[in-house]
Amino acid sequence: MVKVITYGTYDMLHYGHIRLLERAKALGDYLIVGVTSDDYDKTRGKINNQQSLMERIAAVKETGLADEIIVEEYEGQKIDDIRRLGVDIFTVGSDWVGHFDYLKEFCKVIYLPRTEGISSSEVRAEKRKLRIGLVGSASFRTKFVNESKFVNGVEVVGAYLSRDDPETRDLFSAGSYGELLDRVDAVYIVSKPEDHYKHTKQALEAGKHVLCESPMAYTREQCRALYALAAEKKLILMDAIKTAYSTAYERLIYMAKGGKIGRVVSIDAICTSLRGGISLGGVDLSQRWNSMCGWAPAAMLPVFQIFGTDYKDRTFYTKFQDKEKNIDAFTKIDFLYPSGVATVKVATGAKAEGELVIAGTTGYIYVPAPWWKTDYFEVRYENPEDNKRFFYQLDGEGIRYEIVAFAKAIESGKNMNYVPEDISEAIAGVIGDFNDRINMVEFQ
Ligand code: CTP
Repeated sequence: MVKVITYGTYDMLHYGHIRLLERAKALGDYLIVGVTSDDYDKTRGKINNQQSLMERIAAVKETGLADEIIVEEYEGQKIDDIRRLGVDIFTVGSDWVGHFDYLKEFCKVIYLPRTEGISSSEVRAEKRKLRIGLVGSASFRTKFVNESKFVNGVEVVGAYLSRDDPETRDLFSAGSYGELLDRVDAVYIVSKPEDHYKHTKQALEAGKHVLCESPMAYTREQCRALYALAAEKKLILMDAIKTAYSTAYERLIYMAKGGKIGRVVSIDAICTSLRGGISLGGVDLSQRWNSMCGWAPAAMLPVFQIFGTDYKDRTFYTKFQDKEKNIDAFTKIDFLYPSGVATVKVATGAKAEGELVIAGTTGYIYVPAPWWKTDYFEVRYENPEDNKRFFYQLDGEGIRYEIVAFAKAIESGKNMNYVPEDISEAIAGVIGDFNDRINMVEFQ
């Protein structure tokens, strides 16, 4: 029996795929089809498959051409599969010519002519693009524009309040916010934190989906009201903490919650930046975010994800740079929970190692700086031989995945909840408490 194997993503299965499978099958007696997992595709830079792995597998199955379907999950798996399954022929389309010659050591390699004029990318592109408008004037707006170019099916069509930035100046529309809202399906809000609530509310009222930088509002109640409005209008409202969309970060949170380091007793998260932030030398601070708004949402995320939002006590230790303008150079927040403690340190006027340490009763998770855009972490134990290292590809600091998640949520009508509503609300609550100086110790 001649065994043939072929691999692919098979997103939105089209006749190019079917023709390839037919010819692959005709090469032998038994056809094995490897369908790529979503994670593996991510590492290959294919981030916006429209269909899930299960849907893609079901579509391949339905062709009736595959005798066996397997999932391709990691780099180097092809060699393992070929050996394990006793494969005689490996085949893929001619777009891969030369790429898999290294497999000739293990079996016959055949490149079949690719069907002209069709691809999953084209099928995906046929759908109307999601038109996104930008609202704000912070520097990561430019990153958003660049990252959106990697995501099929979305298009940044305009910006409001962004005249200052040369790279996005051409997107700037001289009209009002309302005029921008008329031209888009969704907005990404990165205006000054005190305007987030107002801008988000107006967008939702106009029937537009919203991806808003954290904090979404300055009080818990306002944040809750925004989510209620979004639900009522059947719109997607997402909190844009990019860390939440990093695969490595997601995994380490699951590990911490899943007992890999025993019971979690303490979390220490540090985020600082001098570049682009304020400096102690004193510059025009009016346009800048303070340390709390710039960093605390991301820094509090692991705390709230692991311990929940129901803390028993919370204290700020703050060094202000300009108290009147509410600019803190450095803030430490201590949280007390019934079963643990957490410390968050944020600064735009001081520098420290930006690492995350989650301590448990049997070991700890260590994420090196800059942990908020991590692709790597370690689970460490008393006996170093038990330590484990984990790496997951991260493209575009998580912003790219965030845009994919936002577009998918809009398309499916289901919020993906990378940052759950109660966490968004708790973050707004802490920022509000900071603004009201509740439980704050100041130092000079
Ligand atoms: N294929 C083909 N003819 C096409 C499209 C794909 O023969 N018009 C083959 C590819 O060469 C590969 C298999 O089908 O062997 C699976 O391809 P996949 O990457 O899943 O599909 P594409 O349509 O190429 O996807 P994309 O546009 O996302 O790259």
